[in-house]
Amino acid sequence: MEMSGFSTVIPLAYLASAVLFILGIKRLSHPETAAGGNRLAAIGMLLAVIATLLDRAILDFTWIVAGLAVGGLVGVVMARTVKMTAMPEMVAVFNGFGGAASGLVAVGEYLREMQSAEVLAIDSGVSIMAGTLIGAVTFSGSMIAFGKLQGFVTGNAISNPLVKFSAGILLGFSVVLAVYLVGFESNLVFYWSLIAAALILGVLFVIPIGGADMPVVVALLNSYSGLAAASAGFVLENNALIISGALVGASGLILTGIMCRAMNRSLANVLFSAFGTTAASAGRAADGDRVATPIEAEDSAMVLGYASQVIFVPGYGLAVAQAQHRVRELADLLTERGVSVRYCVHPVAGRMPGHMNVLLAEANVPYEQLCEPEDVNPDMENIDVAVVVGANDVVNPLARDDPSSPIGGMPIIETDRAKTCIVIKRSLSVGYAGIDNPLFYLRNNRMFFGDASDALARITEEVKQL
Ligand code: TAP
Repeated sequence: MEMSGFSTVIPLAYLASAVLFILGIKRLSHPETAAGGNRLAAIGMLLAVIATLLDRAILDFTWIVAGLAVGGLVGVVMARTVKMTAMPEMVAVFNGFGGAASGLVAVGEYLREMQSAEVLAIDSGVSIMAGTLIGAVTFSGSMIAFGKLQGFVTGNAISNPLVKFSAGILLGFSVVLAVYLVGFESNLVFYWSLIAAALILGVLFVIPIGGADMPVVVALLNSYSGLAAASAGFVLENNALIISGALVGASGLILTGIMCRAMNRSLANVLFSAFGTTAASAGRAADGDRVATPIEAEDSAMVLGYASQVIFVPGYGLAVAQAQHRVRELADLLTERGVSVRYCVHPVAGRMPGHMNVLLAEANVPYEQLCEPEDVNPDMENIDVAVVVGANDVVNPLARDDPSSPIGGMPIIETDRAKTCIVIKRSLSVGYAGIDNPLFYLRNNRMFFGDASDALARITEEVKQL
């Protein structure tokens, strides 16, 4: 095909890939269509990659093929082996690599343009500086987020105003350097200083943020990695990269907003309040002289088997115990007995957005049985039994009753108002936010102590005997 033919086909291919990205994202909004949406977006990305490879006058494909093979292999191995509970860590690493890739494109272009011009052209200069700055901040910030989620980076010791002040100074310094490098002079020492400052900025930005807020920060960094990619798109004059980067940037920001709303926190509060750093590590269940009433499998089965309305509330413990199939088995059994069963999913249950939905979808839970807190809370008094499976913070009445609590104002699933609540967990210990849960000691609450998977299996066996 002639080059003139390519010049028409390439933009069309980019347009098609952009349409596939948008349709893919749209389909991601419902569990039933999400897997197909993911595939559509992946096809769009493949199309964009092929179009880019054909569009550029590439002299040697050796490095590209080697990169594709190694990167593809690492991606497949990670996607297949990563545990569901470690998904936020993997997303953090991928964001970091995305930021690094975009930043390296900007570095490459800067070094290339420096050779031919003393001062950068304003348009490419701005793109290069934005790509460098955002890419470096995203990379180092994501690595710290990964370390915090894995537990080998703790920010407690340095979460003080000095860190925020230093970050502010460093941000100002980086912007001044970037403006100088675009407006006045190309200078390699200044450029390396900008990169170093941006890398430190990423560290200072994430390190004071509390562990419990890390998934929100990961969503925000995801948005940054999109902006970095869009900047790289401007540097390379590649429309597909600009569009896909902008989509990632916007969707990451929307997700950040959704998560903040679900926790009833502002983004500023997440970024600057160090929530969860001390509470999560210091908290203990303050049982004191209050008594939590235990329940066994036989009694649980009686209560459930003769109920007319039951809700299951899954939480992080369901993921730890991998109890999604067990909960479905019990729910199906109850449904067969004529009990109306629903699963009420809190938006921040678990450790990543959609965590519970993914697990329940894996167990083929019918979508029509899924509901949200606002669907059940108004009618909670009519729910005969609420079974809390490995959840804690998302059913903690303190969020509603005590505005001064660290989770004060966070919407919860109000299982404390159900006729009977059964909490399945191994002990009275705290959840992610590190605070005691008064639900455990209420008169209408029963504690089923044990691993969620074993507990559900035992209750299921007993229901079968009814
Ligand atoms: P948590 O409040 O973290 O409580 C989970 C409970 O699961 C623990 O109290 C633990 O108690 C229990 N558990 C652990 N392993 C178990 C097992 N094998 N079997 C039974 N129970 C087990 O969970 P949640 O209610 O889902 O709330 C999520 C928390 O994470 C919230 O604070 C939320 O703000 C935070 N967070 C979530 C997200 C996203 S996007 N999901 C983002 C940021 C923060 P035992 O040790 O006694 O068993």
